[in-house]
Amino acid sequence: MTMRLDYLSIFPGYFDVLDISLLGKAVDNGLVEVHAHDLRDWTHDRHRTVDDTPCGGGAGMVMKPDPWGEAFDGIIGIEPDPSVHVIFPTPSGIPFTQSAAQELSTVERVVFCCGRYEGIDHRVIDYARTMWTVHELSLGDYVLNGGEVAALAITEAVVRLIPGFMGNPESLAEESFSPGQERLLEYPLFTRPVSWRGMDVPEVLMSGHHGRIAEWRREESLLLTRDRRPDLTD
Ligand code: ADE
Repeated sequence: MTMRLDYLSIFPGYFDVLDISLLGKAVDNGLVEVHAHDLRDWTHDRHRTVDDTPCGGGAGMVMKPDPWGEAFDGIIGIEPDPSVHVIFPTPSGIPFTQSAAQELSTVERVVFCCGRYEGIDHRVIDYARTMWTVHELSLGDYVLNGGEVAALAITEAVVRLIPGFMGNPESLAEESFSPGQERLLEYPLFTRPVSWRGMDVPEVLMSGHHGRIAEWRREESLLLTRDRRPDLTD
């Protein structure tokens, strides 16, 4: 199965980075297919206008529905299809989590709709909900200038979970937030040299005692989680 990823944005150049590094490997291996589109290709005026003033007044601009509708028709089609997952990154979305990434990693078609300005005319999202499986997702409680960076972050979290992507799938199992590990942050990691700038690798890690090592790591995970993310231990 090849996962097809589409990005709709007024800055499609953001998605050039998907050719780099591990995601580029996923493209080369045929695990994913990536298409970035310029929303302005679906405008018809000389200025290629994608925004207008908000109805009801207020600061900033709102993205007009028309280019989005035509882009949907052209990229996804005009038939309802719940197997298509359409993502709107927005700070007012549901928090994006590892389990959401896990679920998205099994779908065949994902379309990212990257808004700019104050946001997209709400009818675009309502329309998409009548046609496809829609997710409004937030990366966290802070505001980015647009959805592009959020779409890239979501892509990276999802693509690395596609079966066959990871060289060593075991490294997925132990990391923070993975299934069975949801509520603990990952323990600190070390490699050689054993002594570096006067600091030594914790002795237990060089002891060869697998039981003691597992115990040490679990304790470190607990201490770290209590300190940095007490919300995870509630
Ligand atoms: N767009 C702007 N801010 C965002 C955020 N925090 N998460 C997702 N999309 C966004």
